[in-house]
Amino acid sequence: MFEGKSVVLGVTGSIAAYKAVDIASKLTQRGLAVDVVMTKAALEFVTALSFRSVTHRPVVTDMWELSSEFSVEHVALAERADVVVVAPATANTIAKLAVGIADEMLSCIVLATRTPVIVAPAMDAGMYSNAITQENLAKLDSRGFTIVGPAHGRLASGLVGMGRLVEADEIMVNVFQVLARKGDLADRQVVVSAGGTREPIDLVRYIGNRSSGKMGYAVAEAARDRGAIVTLISTVTELPPPAGVEVMQVETAHEMRDAVLKASAAADVLIMAAAVADYQPAQVVERKIRRESETLNLELVKTDDILSEVHGDVIKVGFAAESEDLIDRATEKLRNKELDLIAANDVTAEGSGFGTDTNRVTLIDRQGRVEELPLMHKYEVAHHILDRVVVLLSPSQD
Ligand code: PMT
Repeated sequence: MFEGKSVVLGVTGSIAAYKAVDIASKLTQRGLAVDVVMTKAALEFVTALSFRSVTHRPVVTDMWELSSEFSVEHVALAERADVVVVAPATANTIAKLAVGIADEMLSCIVLATRTPVIVAPAMDAGMYSNAITQENLAKLDSRGFTIVGPAHGRLASGLVGMGRLVEADEIMVNVFQVLARKGDLADRQVVVSAGGTREPIDLVRYIGNRSSGKMGYAVAEAARDRGAIVTLISTVTELPPPAGVEVMQVETAHEMRDAVLKASAAADVLIMAAAVADYQPAQVVERKIRRESETLNLELVKTDDILSEVHGDVIKVGFAAESEDLIDRATEKLRNKELDLIAANDVTAEGSGFGTDTNRVTLIDRQGRVEELPLMHKYEVAHHILDRVVVLLSPSQD
């Protein structure tokens, strides 16, 4: 969704400079145009060719090089960029940026640009904790720079402390958040549910389902990448919590109900991708049930229908996991639960439904319009749903 956006990636002289190749590669793979600008010191750690190979674009290494595409108009990059990232940023470069020194291409660009700047420090722990560096970072922070990290861990010196460059994914998320500030869900409150609920039977056993949480997490990430303020209500999953998203951890259908009702009270949108138990044991045995009798009967009672309980000025989107009569059953759920949109999910289709990275859904709205989507990555499915949500949020929609 950030296809064609322009990123200037400034690389400075740190042992972590090699990690910037991964950052450049990942940003390029997401469709961004990445112009790498290296300081002289960075060239001591990693070659310009490495960056050129992954970005397929010229790399700026020398402000005075006349043959360079950017040398004449050295502020061209500063103007074109949608975001400038300095990663790794040494104490020396941070100090220059804090006082406005412009003695090489990168510091010139940062001084000249009006676009948001992300700075990811990487240095020795002593240099990082030094009051001068701390003052410089505080100054950049107060001037609107986004400071990401550093992380705690093993440093080049062999010591353990603060100063490691954060992981590439954390920098990517910050880049996307900056680019999403002008997104079509900017400042909207979006609540997403994900994963499968667990209903306890006794002290050690529960009734669960096969939901991995992937679909809900993809919706949360896609909404975040479009500028939304996202609350993700998640059951226990193996997935890492998405950066830039508030996560509320729940286990049972009842806990999910409470969390959803609370979070959606002030929300613009609620999207329930979670597989919520329809029945729960009537009673939970407070010890481990022994293996004694030949048969064991469990009495189950209906859980609360969460979506039906959410009222008010909130766009409600549900999923319908079906193994037969897909459209009819999903349409029935859309009506009964008073939804604005439902993603009918044929969980018997190849590559679709529980646990997969891909999904095949059919979107049905209140007007009965049916849009069948092909098999695609869950993140892309999420964007198709959010495209419809954006229309539903616009006052002019029919
Ligand atoms: O997590 P993954 O492995 O990625 O799998 C994704 C998925 C298959 C779980 C997902 O795409 C999906 O289909 N989610 C809905 C699963 C489900 O519970 O469907 P349902 O038809 O039983 O429920 C209909 C809707 O009502 C759902 O939005 C559900 O969250 C909601 N519901 C269900 C029961 C209940 N007590 N309260 C509810 O609000």
